[in-house]
Amino acid sequence: MSDKHVVRFEPVGIEIEVDESQTVLRAAAEQGIMLMHGCKEGQCSACKSFVLEGEDIELERYSTFALPDYEKEEGYTLLCRAHVYEDVQIELLNYDEDMIRSGLPINDAVAEVVSITPVTHDMRRLVLRLVAPTEVAFFPGQYMDIAVPGTDVTRSFSMANTSSRTSGLMEFVIKVYPDGVFSSFLDTRLAVGERLDIVGPFGVFTLRESRDCDIVFLGGGAGMAPILSLIRSMVEQASKRKATFYYGARGKRDLCFEDELRGLEKDLPDFHYVPALSEPDPADSWDGEVGLITDVLRRHEKDLSGVDAYVCGPPPMVEAAIPALEQLGVEEKRIYFDKFTTTGSSDPAPVTGRATP
Ligand SMILES: Cc1cc2nc3c(=O)[nH]c(=O)nc-3n(C[C@H](O)[C@H](O)[C@H](O)COP(=O)(O)OP(=O)(O)OC[C@H]3O[C@@H](n4cnc5c(N)ncnc54)[C@H](O)[C@@H]3O)c2cc1C
Ligand code: FES
Repeated sequence: MSDKHVVRFEPVGIEIEVDESQTVLRAAAEQGIMLMHGCKEGQCSACKSFVLEGEDIELERYSTFALPDYEKEEGYTLLCRAHVYEDVQIELLNYDEDMIRSGLPINDAVAEVVSITPVTHDMRRLVLRLVAPTEVAFFPGQYMDIAVPGTDVTRSFSMANTSSRTSGLMEFVIKVYPDGVFSSFLDTRLAVGERLDIVGPFGVFTLRESRDCDIVFLGGGAGMAPILSLIRSMVEQASKRKATFYYGARGKRDLCFEDELRGLEKDLPDFHYVPALSEPDPADSWDGEVGLITDVLRRHEKDLSGVDAYVCGPPPMVEAAIPALEQLGVEEKRIYFDKFTTTGSSDPAPVTGRATP
């Protein structure tokens, strides 16, 4: 074990101890402090923060898209890549007061594959049973990192279920990329009964339950998983909140969990499911919504002021959804999102650097 240093976060006044071998983000997660983050790989900038005091900070490999050189020189840093070698003070640029102290400590766990079933032509439902420990506490909407056996590669996947408390189960919805390190392994080689190393929970894409305003969910692709978890948790709590789930897919063959979502319209008093196809095949005989999910949202909603919005899916969808929601009146701080950034894509500008606050 190497030396530890104190990291103080402002303006929230939280202090944690961080071992030199850990990133600040990881140390915070282990101590139940939920800081804003996305990829944890230095690519998305969700964890970008400002160094108020301290100079001896080393950054692991990151993308200059996430932290351009001029920002690094001004004193910005990426907490998912930062190792500290002295006591430092960090100003959090994005944090959620409701969530920051409510974190659950992360666990290293081993889980066994229970089933792998297709939910669309290119998405699989993976169910794992926890072996050790037999339960991992998580909030609906959070995710785990799953290791690809025999490598040091991990990938993040959001739980679609709401708890592992009684069953020990974790359910995931995973999109298969033909050359995807994890997803093609899942699709072609992983078998029932095999064991996977997983770690978590991570993430702040969780339902803000202290609020009782209307909710808009906007999802695409495997973004289905955490949104399903949030909606299922609303059923468990017998929520009466008005909620509409806009889900974007290309064709009919990309839709999943249709029967369950239609059933949830009956289980929840004011829940509406609005699937939309951006490229319906004539053979689809589709009489539902057609178009990009953001256009469908604009057609259905004229004023979303006072509403909480939860957005999840591929980065381009999330990036298009945020301004669309703002234009419709959703406050920026009430738009909660998880971008499914991928780590396998080639990064044109990865760098290793030393922060110069
Ligand atoms: C917080 C978080 C939660 C996530 N939750 C989920 C989830 O619940 N379900 C899920 O399926 N994924 C989720 N992801 C994405 C997931 O972690 C992986 O990045 C994704 O599954 C690809 O991993 P892979 O190893 O299969 O492919 P990689 O080996 O990473 O990529 C293989 C190839 O596929 C290409 N590729 C990768 N992604 C895309 C893309 N979007 N479009 C086109 N080409 C692409 C790459 O360029 C590369 O050439 C999440 C990501 C984050 C950050
Ligand atoms: S979480 Fe740090 S750059 Fe994405």
